[in-house]
Amino acid sequence: MSAPRSDALVLFGATGDLAAKKIYPALQQLVRRGHLDIPVIGIARGGWDLQRLQAHIRSALVRRPDFDAAATDKLCGQLRFVDGDYNDAATFGRLCNALGEAQRPLFYLAIPPSMFPAVVTGLGRLPCAADSRVVVEKPFGRNLASAQQLNRTLHAEFDESAIFRIDHYLGKEPVQNLLFFRFANSFLEPIWNRNYVDSVQITMAEAFGVEGRGRFYEEVGAVRDVVQNHLLQVVANLAMEPPIGTGSEPVRDEKIKVFRAIRTLTGRSLVRGQYRGYRDEADVAADSQVETFAAMQVHLDSWRWQGVPFFIRAGKQLPVTATEVFVALHRPPQQVFPDTMPQANYLRFRLGPRQVAIALGAQVKRHGTENVGEEVELFACNTQDDEMEAYERLLGDALKGDAALFGRQDAVEAAWRIVDPILARKTAVHDYEPGSWGPAEADAMIAPYGGWRNPLAVA
Ligand code: BG6
Repeated sequence: MSAPRSDALVLFGATGDLAAKKIYPALQQLVRRGHLDIPVIGIARGGWDLQRLQAHIRSALVRRPDFDAAATDKLCGQLRFVDGDYNDAATFGRLCNALGEAQRPLFYLAIPPSMFPAVVTGLGRLPCAADSRVVVEKPFGRNLASAQQLNRTLHAEFDESAIFRIDHYLGKEPVQNLLFFRFANSFLEPIWNRNYVDSVQITMAEAFGVEGRGRFYEEVGAVRDVVQNHLLQVVANLAMEPPIGTGSEPVRDEKIKVFRAIRTLTGRSLVRGQYRGYRDEADVAADSQVETFAAMQVHLDSWRWQGVPFFIRAGKQLPVTATEVFVALHRPPQQVFPDTMPQANYLRFRLGPRQVAIALGAQVKRHGTENVGEEVELFACNTQDDEMEAYERLLGDALKGDAALFGRQDAVEAAWRIVDPILARKTAVHDYEPGSWGPAEADAMIAPYGGWRNPLAVA
């Protein structure tokens, strides 16, 4: 039986940055496709009114290439606004009035975690929203202990089945395609294990800095910002066993097994870096030790992956913006052609932006009389990623009550457990030049496995 659809969307933090950058564009697209015709109630403190919020939304959307005037008008027509302090019971009284007849609102908390307790407690007291759901934005805590505390706060008012923890990477088409490609084909399964796979690399490179988010980044750093969530989710999609059955829970059940199998990280498996110039960014401490680059080696203690290192690397101010997975297979066991050293085959998954590709790297004979090889790539798929934006997909799923692409409590806590020690004990931060591939120390860890394969820029 499918879950009932939400009949109103309430957006806490309606005047904030995240709402303008990600949520209103997604709502505009949902309206454009005819998937959102319920009241949308913005709520924020700061003395705004409905007209100001409507103007703010229009100016945020009009600058975008996907701006749709008719959909924006319709969205603004569905909009209501509640102004008020989240600590004030009267704010929630006004929210109840704004909800009118709605019985099953979706509450979206696009607010800093420090405000969660007040908002969640206020929501718990609402008499008019018994069948509500709540969407919680990342970052979900700062470490294992604070994530557990947040979960206790949420569970005091909401059942786990009503909590939707966002990790927008899970809503990305190419990230979902990792699972699809693995489990909708049979040719991969025989080689997708330690017998054939030598190592796995995941690179998330961004060719820009913290872009005005210095205050946020100082609190977070690369490990919390993208590794604990986005990149460990990519590891889970690559490493999990096939789900047993359909629906959201079997997939989430298999992912948690991957997180449990990953060894807790130690300082020795991590290289942290900081781009030169980071300390000059607005709201960044002059002696900041926050990492804008992290590279690490992860081990899974599982039958399938024992002994196969997973290397993860993420950084800002790198040469390109690209997320890529590179799966290196073992080299052929013997040198059959005297002039050609055996080279490893590989699979390469480009996860965007702009280019989404699955490629198989192989050796072929170079034309001529010699038995000399050269590497070619066979493209299994190559599309431009004009995919549905991750936020649109996730918001649509949350409104339908489909939790498959959201973080479950056990998985979120297990992912924090993996990185917790390296957050608590700070290791050295190495400088790197903007536009480089990070500190040289990150190259040493992967040298025995052939070095990093850097994603190329796309035109
Ligand atoms: C966010 C991080 O979660 O993901 C940002 O806070 C990062 O620092 C962003 O830039 C990357 O996501 P996307 O979808 O732009 O690749």
